[in-house]
Amino acid sequence: MKKAIIFYQSKTGTTKKYAQEIGTYFQAKQIDTLCLPVEEYRESLLQNTDYLLLGCWTKGLMVIFQQPDNIWGDFAKKLIVPKSTKVALFATFKIRSGSMFKNMAKCVNHNGSLSFPNLKSRNGKLSEKDKIVLDEFINN
Ligand SMILES: Cc1cc2nc3c(=O)[nH]c(=O)nc-3n(C[C@H](O)[C@H](O)[C@H](O)COP(=O)(O)O)c2cc1C
Repeated sequence: MKKAIIFYQSKTGTTKKYAQEIGTYFQAKQIDTLCLPVEEYRESLLQNTDYLLLGCWTKGLMVIFQQPDNIWGDFAKKLIVPKSTKVALFATFKIRSGSMFKNMAKCVNHNGSLSFPNLKSRNGKLSEKDKIVLDEFINN
């Protein structure tokens, strides 16, 4: 059975909801999935993980300077991701996600990648478009 871990940082619950919807979608695909807040990260959890999804809320000046919160940035920078694990990013936002994914990717050290598959939501609900992104992530 394939294994996925979803780590999220959420202040008011929207990103947590999105993470859980992503988790439910993975489980429906018969993937053994854990969904945890970033505070619960331990290096051993990533052993034998096929898919790692990292999510955060968007922090910025609404239309410019979007970046992950420091709590997420510090978490992502210390991650030790096995080379064979596939990584994707997700974020919730209100108005504009702008530079969010570029700045999230800068915190993740994984096989020299500068960008990762990503999905975003205003309300924390998984859209049909998100499902296409996730299907591609799972299958390719
Ligand atoms: C300090 C602060 C800055 C924010 N900056 C932005 C922003 O630049 N762009 C945006 O679209 N939403 C911004 N938001 C909205 C949040 O990213 C959005 O409400 C998010 O879904 C909250 O996630 P959570 O419920 O998981 O905490 C900001 C919220 C806060 C509290």
